[in-house]
Amino acid sequence: MPSKPVSIETEFTHLARLALTGRGQDVQLLLHRVVKRYRGTSPELASTIAELLREAPTRASPLRRQSEVPLPVDGDTRLQLLRVEDHPVFDHEPVFGTQISAKLAQLVNERENPAVLIEAGLHPSKTALFVGPPGVGKTLAARWLAKTLGRPLLILDLAAVMSSYLGRTGGNLRHVLDYAKTIDCVLLLDELDAIAKRRDDGGEIGELKRLVTVLIQEIDDWPSTGLLVAATNHPELLDPAIWRRFEMLLEFPLPDTTALSIYIIDLLSGRIDNAAIWGRVLALSLSGRSFSDVEREINGLRRAAALEGRKLEDVLTTALRTIPESKAERIELASLLVDEGIMSQRQASELTGIARDTIRKRGGGPDSESE
Ligand SMILES: Nc1ncnc2c1ncn2[C@@H]1O[C@H](COP(=O)(O)OP(=O)(O)OP(=O)(O)O)[C@@H](O)[C@H]1O
Ligand SMILES: [Mg+2]
Repeated sequence: MPSKPVSIETEFTHLARLALTGRGQDVQLLLHRVVKRYRGTSPELASTIAELLREAPTRASPLRRQSEVPLPVDGDTRLQLLRVEDHPVFDHEPVFGTQISAKLAQLVNERENPAVLIEAGLHPSKTALFVGPPGVGKTLAARWLAKTLGRPLLILDLAAVMSSYLGRTGGNLRHVLDYAKTIDCVLLLDELDAIAKRRDDGGEIGELKRLVTVLIQEIDDWPSTGLLVAATNHPELLDPAIWRRFEMLLEFPLPDTTALSIYIIDLLSGRIDNAAIWGRVLALSLSGRSFSDVEREINGLRRAAALEGRKLEDVLTTALRTIPESKAERIELASLLVDEGIMSQRQASELTGIARDTIRKRGGGPDSESE
């Protein structure tokens, strides 16, 4: 017995709309629902459709191929609006904290088990908003999702699109989303706040309001099988109507010292003997910085070592100019430097401002000053 009196006409119209707009994956989701709904009243219909679903094209042989449709370009400049990463790769494994990891895993899990959700009257989250300071892994997380789901990553840089003639922006936005809808992809709308920022310019309020409306419509119309991710450094600038539309929110924090040390060890391994020790030391020394800041710092030091023909270990000591603000971390850093024989107690005390007595009490090795 169908639980809700949804007429077959309504169902059929919905199906036709999805089929005619090329939303093959949505057609499948709808048909799964139909099977469930008509299992009791029309078992034959249900089993025929179930059979068709089993034979239907899967992600491995999608209904539409990306290459069939040309990439969208700006009408004036003919410049490509989208960046496409067909097979996303990583130089280094991303490091995500437990909360971010759990949410990313859930997004993947939802995509891989849609039937369970549909059974419960739900659908996989189709939109997610990534919020956080620069260089903490928002773009990386979108890339990770694409890679894990085996889909291409499409990136639309809203800041770049916004810098084009404003009257064109709405059209360009539609153009890109229409294109992305036809592909089983992860679409990243990068720098989502660019829409809001342009507001400061004044004189273009009407145009901008229209643009926000376009964006909202496009988000609402995004197919439930696609995954739309938007990233911003400035969530406070977003129109609440846009903010509200995202089904999952991922707040990327600055990395803690544990995450930084994992990352630094990965950057240094194979390049230095005691990468694990330096990972911990540098993570404390560079605490409070973003992953991309730390990467830049370390790459700079590697270049310096190469140019000067010096050992990386020796050059890394220069990075210790910066010390953590927190006293507990300064004590930890000082003890580690002494324990690992990188500095004497006096040097470590001068660098961190921690008294030698305190370092000694923490077990900061025997005082090995011999200058
Ligand atoms: N969580 C992370 N794990 C490993 N590396 C990271 C991480 N976050 C950032 N990085 C490094 O920093 C670089 C920039 O990261 P990413 O582009 O993801 O930052 P973002 O959060 O998108 O920043 P923005 O807001 O500036 O776009 C990456 O290419 C990577 O080298
Ligand atoms: Mg980014």
